[in-house]
Amino acid sequence: MYSSFLRKKFNQSLFEIYSSEELNIIYYNIMQQLTNKSKVELMTNNYELSHVKEKLFFEYINRLSNNEPLQYVLGNTIFNKLEFDLNSSVLIPRPETEELVDLIIKYECKKEKILDIGSGSGCIAVTLAKYIEKSNVTALEICSNAVKIIHKNAKKHNVKMNIICEDFLTFNTNSTFDLIVSNPPYIAYSQKDKISKNILNYEPHKALFVDDSNPLVFYKSILDFSKSNLNKDGNIFFEINHIFCDEMIQLVSKYQVFSYKLIKDFHEKNRFMILQKNV
Ligand SMILES: C[S@@+](CC[C@H](N)C(=O)[O-])C[C@H]1O[C@@H](n2cnc3c(N)ncnc32)[C@H](O)[C@@H]1O
Repeated sequence: MYSSFLRKKFNQSLFEIYSSEELNIIYYNIMQQLTNKSKVELMTNNYELSHVKEKLFFEYINRLSNNEPLQYVLGNTIFNKLEFDLNSSVLIPRPETEELVDLIIKYECKKEKILDIGSGSGCIAVTLAKYIEKSNVTALEICSNAVKIIHKNAKKHNVKMNIICEDFLTFNTNSTFDLIVSNPPYIAYSQKDKISKNILNYEPHKALFVDDSNPLVFYKSILDFSKSNLNKDGNIFFEINHIFCDEMIQLVSKYQVFSYKLIKDFHEKNRFMILQKNV
């Protein structure tokens, strides 16, 4: 009885914002986290929440009713089968970025010394450190609160990484790498009105937006850095904004040391660029 009461309350509070399919997914995600029970157990049995958990349940409903993304409400998400802690200092990892990580893992290239630029939650860096044997991964991120989350996620998955809190645009090092990966901020501010409200209101703008006057600033800076800090035959893996695909090709073509190929994401949009340093 009690569990059906909770479900009823949940649906009544959120039906105006979410479809019934979404409500179902969100409800079981929340309940699994609050009860530690499987979805099947929850679907087939009655259950109760302690007073503390019940308070949390209603707090979650309240936050969801304000359009806060579920991942921030729960404080975690799954990325490439690993659970990552999150808070509002870091971008919610996207499925496209899971594809980027899959590409790197499957791509036949040298990947011992890896640098991830703009690490956010550490989803790329930690996943590579976890899945690529003998890798030596460095995560670089400007936001100190995000860096705390990277440390948490590295610890959670028991991986050792170098974690650097710096502005990449002024970053200098003598270290060289076999593989550089980045999903940098790539949405021009002028595209802001095409972005949904729950992203704009909750996700960190520093993770999303770049100036219209120089939207490829991070890619250019990474290419310049790679002239001296990427080893011969090394690779760069970029996630890109498909809208700037032509501009990216123009930019990369100016650097004769790199050959490149473009790869589409599951929406058939040009989303990834793989570069190889030939000298
Ligand atoms: C699009 S998010 C990507 C986060 C994460 N790698 C992912 O794929 O989910 C870009 C990240 O770059 C970081 N960033 C922005 N400007 C930076 C800078 N100048 N130097 C280093 N990191 C920066 C942001 O804080 C944010 O975490």
